[in-house]
Formats: sequence, structure tokens, C-alpha cells
Amino acid sequence: MEQKKILEGENQRDQFNSRLGFVLATAGSAIGLGNIWRFPYIVGENGGGAFLFVYMGILILMGVSLLLVEFVIGRNGGTNAIDSYVKINPKAKWVGWLGFITAFVFLSYYSVVGGWTLFYTLSSLTGTVIKVAPADMGAFFGNFISSPIAPLIFHFIFMGLTMGIILGGISGGIEKYSKILMPALFVMMIALVIRAVTLDGAMEGIKWYLTPDFSKITSGTIVSAMGQVFFTLSVGMSGMVTYASYLSKEEKLPVIGTQVAFADTLIAIISGFIIFPVLFASGVAPAQGVGLVFITLPMVFSQMPLGGVFSFLFFALLSVAALTSAISILEMPVTTLIEKKKMTRKKATFLVGCITYVMGIAVSLGFGAWSGFNLFGMDIFGVFDYFGSNISLPLGTLGAALTIGWMWNKNDALKELTNDGAYSIGIAKIWFYVVRYLIPITIIMVFLLNIGIL
Ligand code: TRP
Repeated sequence: MEQKKILEGENQRDQFNSRLGFVLATAGSAIGLGNIWRFPYIVGENGGGAFLFVYMGILILMGVSLLLVEFVIGRNGGTNAIDSYVKINPKAKWVGWLGFITAFVFLSYYSVVGGWTLFYTLSSLTGTVIKVAPADMGAFFGNFISSPIAPLIFHFIFMGLTMGIILGGISGGIEKYSKILMPALFVMMIALVIRAVTLDGAMEGIKWYLTPDFSKITSGTIVSAMGQVFFTLSVGMSGMVTYASYLSKEEKLPVIGTQVAFADTLIAIISGFIIFPVLFASGVAPAQGVGLVFITLPMVFSQMPLGGVFSFLFFALLSVAALTSAISILEMPVTTLIEKKKMTRKKATFLVGCITYVMGIAVSLGFGAWSGFNLFGMDIFGVFDYFGSNISLPLGTLGAALTIGWMWNKNDALKELTNDGAYSIGIAKIWFYVVRYLIPITIIMVFLLNIGIL
């Protein structure tokens, strides 16, 4: 395929080579630990169907629109996130910087959990995991994450892999790997769903997952649901602004946004159909926190024919899904440092990689040696995750929506969305009003609800 490059000053700016490449890279960013690891345990902690109901509501109301907000800002900018905001309105600069800081927070713990998936992949290969008795799976997981050295080694490997891909740049790194890895993940998930829903007792889990008990909806549920929607779609941290800045002017943003939101939601819903039937079939409570997929799935694998193979495939693909998301988190600060601080890609990647690695050490020790740490009842991981998902992402999303809705002019925004009016004007106008009114009002209301003013 022809290597398309656009000239920018003296630097050649890389670009995605194909539409499919961008869609898969963006879907790869969206689909990750957020869908398969975070989504089920957040559903588990928030009462099942009730949470799912709120989550789907927020997603339908704002999901695609939010992706389009970041796409429009990024493609219009054609540069790193901070300058893309400045290009629209210098007052919006802070949104980019907030994303820059948040990227460090997310990547640090994302890489720790990514390391756990690598450990499980390896232990599946050696057969260790599936030899553990189902009743001891929780202890097996607990021992691993609380030990001082092993998780740090896997955290190191995961961070190294992420950095390796980012060093390859956009078309030769991100695009190339996403094209192979994402389809493989999907096929694997389908195989696992079939296994899970045919287990004895699976129906109980499906019922719990799909039946909303509205009495369980609290302000906390709504805040968590909103945080999860932003997290899973990778919005609010300008990661999608960064990706879209490498996208050609011909691509139809609304089509891509819809495809990505759909694929992401499908994978999250499917992972619920894998986890909850398994949980109820093995009589385990759904509120297991961060250990949920690492404890429950191996329980099933250990008792089924070819369990070792399934276990290996599952964790290998989960690692891959995590990797295609981690690279999108890392690319945001790397692009920023290359363009704003004139660093080489190599230097920027190493700098961000090393700082986040060290931050990740604290997160990892927080599950073991430093588990005494406690802030408002949260451990170190909890603090990072809460700041990132429930505070910074809503703020960044609010900032992005206000930038388009109030700090730009409507015509410019619509022109970017529709490639200069090439198509679908009616829908574009609805989008603008959603971005201008609905999204900011919803986010502010959820904030007020959370701090008890509403
Ligand atoms: N969406 C990814 C997941 O579900 C995580 C992720 C990647 C992300 N890039 C992001 C989350 C930017 C927030 C912001 O695992």
C-alpha cells in the first residue's frame, strides 16, 4: 500500500494508510481491559441489570457523539491534542493538558493489569493455572498480585511491548498490529460465549445480568456508569483526538464513530455473557472487584476439556486487547512531546514509558506491601482509577464538548464533521445540539448528584 505522508513544517507527519487500519486501531483503543476486565467487575459491584440499564442509557445518549467530538477536534487540528484545542480556541488548552496528565495515571495501572494478563497467559501455557483447584483460584490470584517482584516483572514486559509498538509509529506500528489482533479477539470471544451459556446454571447469571432492579440505582451507580462509558470508549483524555489527527480528510467520521462505538459495546456486552453465566454456574458472588475475570474464568477452564488451550487463548487475546489500548494511551503524550518539545519519538517514548513504569510500581505494591495505604477507603489502584475515570474523564469530556459547542462556531464544526458538507447534514445538526446542550448538562448533573447537591 502506498505510504501517504503529509508535510508539516520540516517534519513529515505519519498518517494511517487505510480506512480499515484507522477503524481497527480506534476500535483497538476502545476495546481493551475496560470491556473484558473492568466492565464485568463494575457491573458486579453495582448490582447487575440496574447498572447495565444506566450504562446503556448513557452510551446511547452520548456514546457516538462523544467519539465524534474528539475525532472532529483532532482531525481539524492535524497536530497533537494540545495544539488541536488551541487551534479552535486558546482557552481550551487545559483540556489537552488534563488529558496529558491523565494519560500517565491510566497507563501506569493499565500496564500493571496488562502484566497480570501476561502472567496468566504464561501460566496457562505451562499448565499451572488450570491445575489450581477452583476453590483456590482466589488465593492463587491474591498471592500473585500481592507478591513484591513477579507482578513488577510482568508490568515491565507489558510496558516494554507497548513502547516497542509506539516506537514503530502510526502506520508501521499501531496500524499493522491492530489489523491482525482485533479480528482474532472477536472470534475467540464468540467461542467463549458459546461455552459459557451452555454451562449448567448459566441462566441464573444471564437473568441477573439482564434484569434491572431499579431500587439498586444510586448516585454512585450513575457516576460509575458514566465513568465506565468514557473509559470504554477512550474519550475524555484526548486519546482519540490524537488518533484522529493522523486521519485523512476524506474519511467519514460519523460512519467510523458508529462502527467503533458499536464494536466496543458489543464486546463489553459479550464479555458479560461470558463472565456472569460462569459465576452463577460456579456459585461465586459477582462482587469480586479487580480479580473477577482472573478468578472466575480459570475456574471454568480448569474443569473443561481442552481447558488449558482455552485459558491460553483467552488470556493471550486479553493481553492483546490490552496492548492495543495501552498504545493509544501512550501515543497521546508521545505525540505531544514530539511536537511541542521537539523530542524524537524514541526519547519521548522512553521518557513517558519510564515515568509511568515507576508510577505503576506504586500501584502494584498497593496490592501487597503497601496495601496499608488508604485514602477515603481506596487503595492506590482505587485512587488512580477513581481520579482517572470518575473525575478526570468527565471533566475532559465536558471540556471537549464545551470547546465544540460554545468556543467554536457551528459552521466550522459541522464542516469538519461532514467533510465540507459532502453528506448527512440533518444528522450533523442534531449532533451539534447534543454536544452543545445534552452532554454538558448531563455531565454537570451527574457531578452535582455525586457531591450531593442534587
Ligand atoms: N478504552 C480502553 C479500554 O476499554 C482504555 C483506554 C484506551 C482509554 N485509551 C483511553 C481510557 C483513553 C480512557 C481514555 O480498555
